[in-house]
Amino acid sequence: MDRTAILAIDQGTTSSRAIVFDRNGRPSATAQQEFRQHYPQDGWVEHDPEEILRTTLAVCRKALDEAGSKGLTVQAIGITNQRETTLLWERDSGKPIYNAIVWQDRRTADYCNNLKHQGHEESVSARTGLLLDPYFSASKLRWMLENIPGARQRAEAGKLAFGTIDSFLLWHLTGGKVHATDITNASRTLLFNIHSQQWDPHLLDLFDIPASLLPDVNDCTADFGETDPAIFGCRLPILGIAGDQQAAAIGQACFAPGMTKSTYGTGCFVLMNTGNSPIRSGNRLLTTIAWRIAGQTSYAVEGSIFIAGAAVQWIRDNLKLITNAAETEQLAAGLGSNHGVYLVPAFTGLGAPHWDPQARGALFGLTRDTGIAEIARATLESVVYQTRDLMTAMAADGAVPPTALRIDGGMVANNWFCQFLADLLDLPVERPEVTETTALGAACLAGLQAGSYASLDEIAAQWQCQSDFKPQMAAGLRRELIAGWDEAISKVRTE
Ligand code: G3P
Repeated sequence: MDRTAILAIDQGTTSSRAIVFDRNGRPSATAQQEFRQHYPQDGWVEHDPEEILRTTLAVCRKALDEAGSKGLTVQAIGITNQRETTLLWERDSGKPIYNAIVWQDRRTADYCNNLKHQGHEESVSARTGLLLDPYFSASKLRWMLENIPGARQRAEAGKLAFGTIDSFLLWHLTGGKVHATDITNASRTLLFNIHSQQWDPHLLDLFDIPASLLPDVNDCTADFGETDPAIFGCRLPILGIAGDQQAAAIGQACFAPGMTKSTYGTGCFVLMNTGNSPIRSGNRLLTTIAWRIAGQTSYAVEGSIFIAGAAVQWIRDNLKLITNAAETEQLAAGLGSNHGVYLVPAFTGLGAPHWDPQARGALFGLTRDTGIAEIARATLESVVYQTRDLMTAMAADGAVPPTALRIDGGMVANNWFCQFLADLLDLPVERPEVTETTALGAACLAGLQAGSYASLDEIAAQWQCQSDFKPQMAAGLRRELIAGWDEAISKVRTE
């Protein structure tokens, strides 16, 4: 029996996780630690990079110990991460010069708007596949250079390094030896040209970013470097990296054009594989690199929603209506309808397809009968309506409708949510056997590079459906519910 295994690091928005996968792609050891979210001002979201690093190393050590006690030999590491989150650190000490500015952060909304009004969006979008929105790294990095005393001078003197989370972890895991990223993370910075597959001088100029800050860009499968033995007591090669949504598409084996996955973590991200050429959206979806393996690039169209699982967290932690997320399933199922209550969780603005950073959340349709169950149900429903908005935009772009949507992430443990999703999309929804698809994708990449998998086909053969949710809702009811949502959304829009 093959006892080799891969350690996948999944550094997400609310927690750091490490999962050891065996040769068959089954999780054998798991560790997770949540960390603090910092909200210094309205619309600002930061993470403490030291805490990111500390929690990541702690969960890795725990998972490695557990895997060791089960007789598994970890042969390589794959990394996946929250994307776009921006870090800047000192090259000589590895010390960050500011907190990580998180992908959800909206502090650069005015700056992005100005660039838009100056007419830059078309050229930025043509080069990157993205939009001029504070979501991406470029304006966050520029903010750091402008606002942290001495940052620009130190950057120009070549003393600082920029990276997304993968790059920061790679730097520290290799003891400061490697400053690199993978192409999927690079493609989310708004500085990377997805056609030439290089950092784009025009964009560096536009955002005023010195090229000396930038990491090298590799395939998702590459020899990224080895861990410093002081960290885990041995040298482990890091052989795979991808941003978390791209990694989930790999873990969901969405390898053929048209295959689509939707991941419900903090936010929700729908990715449709579009094959070897980038397809430009006419409906404000993103074009992104899905992966590059052995020099072969696959592209995807992506719809990004900023608040999904975070809305459930909000009713748990801020409103204290529930004590754990799982309670929402019974609460929602216990109602015959939504009683006309709609939540628009635009807490950090609206993502695709609206892209309205100034919009804020709202609850509509409250009556004296409204209780915890209605709000819990409206919270789950809001995530489904937003997914539907993304799928509608994909269809309007001319995408052939997928035959099924593969789903994953924390929220898909909720059967009521999955059924409502199938009903509202009028599309079969498939939940896989292994729902840790993000981490699995990172492990698959490292496994490919290590030679444990010969091809993507071998990974696809491993994928198994655990539950299949079939649409059952009457068309009239679906139309009515969607009309209520459209009205609610139109009330929070500012653009
Ligand atoms: O683009 C942001 C995304 O990568 C964050 O994912 O899973 O941390 O919500 P998640």
